[in-house]
Amino acid sequence: MRNKIKSLLKKRKAIMLAHNYQPPEIQDLADLCGDSLELSIKASQTDAEVILFCGVSFMAETASVLSPHKTVLLPRKDAGCPMADMVTSEELKAKLAELPPMPVVTYVNSSAAVKALSTICCTSANALDIVNSLDEKELIMVPDRNLALNTASRTDKKIHIWDGYCPIHNDLTPEDVIIAKREHPDAVFMAHPECPPYIIDMADVALSTSGMIRYAMESKSRSFIVGTEIGLLYPLQKANPDKFFYPASLNMECSDMKKITLEDVVRSLEFMEGEVKVPEDIQRPALKAVQRMIDLSQQLGSGLKVQGSRLKGD
Ligand code: 13P
Ligand code: SF4
Repeated sequence: MRNKIKSLLKKRKAIMLAHNYQPPEIQDLADLCGDSLELSIKASQTDAEVILFCGVSFMAETASVLSPHKTVLLPRKDAGCPMADMVTSEELKAKLAELPPMPVVTYVNSSAAVKALSTICCTSANALDIVNSLDEKELIMVPDRNLALNTASRTDKKIHIWDGYCPIHNDLTPEDVIIAKREHPDAVFMAHPECPPYIIDMADVALSTSGMIRYAMESKSRSFIVGTEIGLLYPLQKANPDKFFYPASLNMECSDMKKITLEDVVRSLEFMEGEVKVPEDIQRPALKAVQRMIDLSQQLGSGLKVQGSRLKGD
């Protein structure tokens, strides 16, 4: 199966991108595994003809927005993101009509249609930098209320908060963290900014998924409690074979991120199945918001090679 995928990737002049939460066998085959920011940057820079995206639908849509002349394949069309579904373009338009004019900062975990209504996008690696880069003192962040609250507590800007959330991160409880800390008293607790503020308050650092991998590599600590989707344990352990990683809760599993199998990848490449194409009237305005984020991130140095901005540092 692996050899077949490798030769199909060559035949299609395709690049395979995988999010850090994807199953190990998918990550092992990918040309690049990363967090949302790294994958967006790669999707904007590749000269491959086909982008095979192993992640969820908003990620493949973002790749199509950034590379409209390339074919983007999502091997499972039903791999979605419940948080992204918590805001539609109609709902956002209605909300904006109620508010005075202000910038819209949209988390990449959103549809292309919502991005098209936005001033600028952000990821968990650059949210604070993006918000602070704006001239305006007041803005709205969609759709993740936890990312917005965690950003609001670290800036003097007034942030209007959309009431969306990631069910996987939102359900992590203080009790889960207390138990994990009791079992591993010397471990550093790393939490994802999609977790609620009361979890971030209990954390030593709040980082994107790739930020956690780099942090663990650079840290002198040998053990870590991981407050994000459990798929991240695989790349964490791979990059740090001598260190120890413990999930903050075994319930933190995103079923959408586990849908793509090697068989799906073969089928998608063989029959060019699962194409994701964003219509031009949405692609153009969405591109402005995503490209603005990428340009600013690279300017600020929170791109591929560095840690990413921390919402909470040690
Ligand atoms: P990052 O990898 O950008 O931290 O995103 C986490 C996530 O929930 C993606 O769905
Ligand atoms: Fe969406 Fe959360 Fe799954 Fe990421 S982990 S795809 S934010 S539901």
